[in-house]
Amino acid sequence: MNIAIDGPAGAGKSTVAKMLAKELGFIYVDTGAMYRAAALYFLMNDIDVSDETAVARACELTDVSIRFRENEQQVLLNGDNVNGKIRREEVGNMASAISVFPVVRQKLTALQQKLAASEDVVMDGRDIGTCVLPNAEVKIYLTASVTARAKRRYQELLERGESCNLEEIQKDISDRDYRDMHRDASPLKQADDAVFVDSSELTLEETAEAVRTVCQEKLSCG
Ligand code: DC
Repeated sequence: MNIAIDGPAGAGKSTVAKMLAKELGFIYVDTGAMYRAAALYFLMNDIDVSDETAVARACELTDVSIRFRENEQQVLLNGDNVNGKIRREEVGNMASAISVFPVVRQKLTALQQKLAASEDVVMDGRDIGTCVLPNAEVKIYLTASVTARAKRRYQELLERGESCNLEEIQKDISDRDYRDMHRDASPLKQADDAVFVDSSELTLEETAEAVRTVCQEKLSCG
């Protein structure tokens, strides 16, 4: 049984997917974290993403794998757990930049498909319902306006005591959306059979409830 949740950055996918997985006793798979781990390699090794040969060579040297400890996903980059290093904006932006390359996507997609074939998963990302798990029992496209997502991110950073600027965050989000939605290789878009959920005006709990309802309806029909 697989549940696919796709959508842009900051719509609440990971929090909701994690909650749902816990309630259903499924495994939560965060595919963005895999792209982030690969991106970390590119950043640490100063790989020039405009040089396709350098990108292909770096991919050969990048081994991303995952393991679960007490139901938490740990992402390993060449054998090291990098969970604590992949949440920075810089890593997210690099993940978006390298995810345009089919050579980057192939290995990660295969890893995601293998996991979903052996476990019940709630998997979130950009191309899960459209490419990774086209036969998922439930597909949700979870989004929110750029303004709502930027405000949430701004609030999060303030709470962490980090200095930030709302306009810059908004621009970063718009740029990332554009890149993720307009790349040739499995761009972010709603799958034809996905249910659309807009969380702009919803609290996290209300969003989780909306997603839960979709899952209950779909699973009880199946
Ligand atoms: O969900 P996230 O912010 O952690 O993802 C970081 C980037 O990784 C995102 O901007 C695009 C890329 N990504 C992707 O191309 N496909 C996925 N299934 C997940 C993430």
